Amino acid sequence: MCGIIGFTGNIKAQDILLTGLEKLEYRGYDSAGIAYFKENGKISIRKTAGKVKDLRAICDDNDATCGIGHTRWATHGGVTNANAHPHKSGNVALIHNGIIENYHELATTYDLEDRLISETDTEVAAALFDKFYDGENPIEAIKEVIPLLKGSFAFCIMFENRPGVIYAVRNVSPMVAATSKEGSFIASDLTAFIEYSKRYFIVPEYAILTLEANKIDLQDLNGNTIEPEFLEVDWDMTAAQKEGYPTFMLKEINEQPAAINRTIMPRIKDGLPSFEEDGIPDSFFADCNDITIVACGTAMYAGMVGKTLMQDILGIPVTVAIASEFRYERPVITDKSVVIVVSQSGETIDTLEALRLAKTKTNKTLSIVNVKGSSIARESNYVLYTHAGPEIAVASTKAYTVQAAAFYLLTCKLALVQNAMSEADARTFIRNLENVSDNIAEVLKLSDKVEQLTKRMLNASHTFFIGRGSDYTLSMEGALKLKEISYIHAEAYAAGELKHGTIALISEGVPVIALATQSHVYNKVISNIREVKARGAYVILLSMDEKITDATICDTHISLPKVPEQFAVFEAVVILQMIAYFTSTGKGLNADQPRNLAKSVTVE
Ligand code: F6R
Repeated sequence: MCGIIGFTGNIKAQDILLTGLEKLEYRGYDSAGIAYFKENGKISIRKTAGKVKDLRAICDDNDATCGIGHTRWATHGGVTNANAHPHKSGNVALIHNGIIENYHELATTYDLEDRLISETDTEVAAALFDKFYDGENPIEAIKEVIPLLKGSFAFCIMFENRPGVIYAVRNVSPMVAATSKEGSFIASDLTAFIEYSKRYFIVPEYAILTLEANKIDLQDLNGNTIEPEFLEVDWDMTAAQKEGYPTFMLKEINEQPAAINRTIMPRIKDGLPSFEEDGIPDSFFADCNDITIVACGTAMYAGMVGKTLMQDILGIPVTVAIASEFRYERPVITDKSVVIVVSQSGETIDTLEALRLAKTKTNKTLSIVNVKGSSIARESNYVLYTHAGPEIAVASTKAYTVQAAAFYLLTCKLALVQNAMSEADARTFIRNLENVSDNIAEVLKLSDKVEQLTKRMLNASHTFFIGRGSDYTLSMEGALKLKEISYIHAEAYAAGELKHGTIALISEGVPVIALATQSHVYNKVISNIREVKARGAYVILLSMDEKITDATICDTHISLPKVPEQFAVFEAVVILQMIAYFTSTGKGLNADQPRNLAKSVTVE
């Protein structure tokens, strides 16, 4: 939610800011702006509703070497030029990612209302910093304002008579910083400046960071110096580029075989799962009565794959909770419960808060996270990094399959430690998991066929995804993917539940994507498919049954490579991702940046 960047150095700032903002656009893309110091020490602002390319079009060339930039995902106030960041009030210009919950109260208490020209909470913060700024000491103003703010924030602030200096402070909302020979950088995420530095640090919460061209200073709110803890990324600039693909989403769909290998291979030792390098002791897996999986969106659907598998193999209660609900429903967690928190970004605020709640009840929390050093990774007792590389497209694809793969490894380990699986069976299970990336590579070859069949979906207003068991959990992910990038209404239904109401919506030509990969419910799903087919549905069936040709069962059959059915989720979901992708592009939409969405949801 909103991307921010700041740079101060010895080369021109504007292109660094604009290029960085383009990399951060996945975080929000309804308006954009920059502020920079002119030669006379005054601050100049360019901002507009629209994307970074629209901002680029209104920026003149200039020699400024210090500035800040923002790409917005609107929370308070519509998408207008006035509501775009940066906001300037008196001597202060700032950009913000987060929500100031008490902005209204602050505006009234500090008599700021007459100064405001936008509808944003951010402008209130700018006015407040200006009110407390004596013209001499920016850090004192920051120290006074920060305790007054309720909510989440990552601010980059410029004070008019402090040219060349950017001040930054954050609570919850992410911010990373780095220095290089070109100067000092700060951003919501290091993709914005990775071409200048792979070494970076996470700005600690409630610390004030002062960036100058040749130095940085980090101090707490009491003025004590803090040493930044530097991290190094294990991917480079090419991983954050399209590399010949027309979109990031297509690139990320195709990266899945390699991404899965990066998740599982380092954790397979002598044919068995090992979490030694992650520092997770066997006692973690032994002493566990029940498991709760908490996440949002696609990560939660990956959790559902985990639940089906774990419950099946371990025979202990496994619950999946939507993070935003978990916090308000008095979850039953004991000190023998394992809580697994799943998040690509590691910054989703609902998931982070759910983790914090879980930690008040158990110290057996484990996160499955992609982004190194992110808040969820840092705050959970143990972390499994998925090593999938940056996921830039807003719709998650490779993050889902690597999260699911992590659940397969965890389940196998739990089963071994809890004597729910023999060593021989565990070895077979792991061999099957090792084959997943080759199976996905086979499925990716079906892309032409999938693109062809989506032509039938382009004019649909409603679609249904049906399945039973693990195929039902996949249906939910398939429907979400289609909705978010093609704007076609899609509903996932447990196939047996359709006739309890929803079948009323099936009429001539309505596309139904049916999944039938599980033998124990196969005949039942086929019966459910016949029921929708008899009412005129256009059925696209995904199964491993190469014998299916019967037009009374389906209109199009996608024959998946034969694999042990516990592992069919991986290949089936890739087809569902491609259905969503080609429907979106077939409709001429921007699959990478669907409307109203942003990749990293850091507001509640
Ligand atoms: C859908 C999608 C979202 C995310 C969700 C959680 O394609 O990407 O549903 O899965 O916002 O995000 P993370 O995994 O970053 O916590």
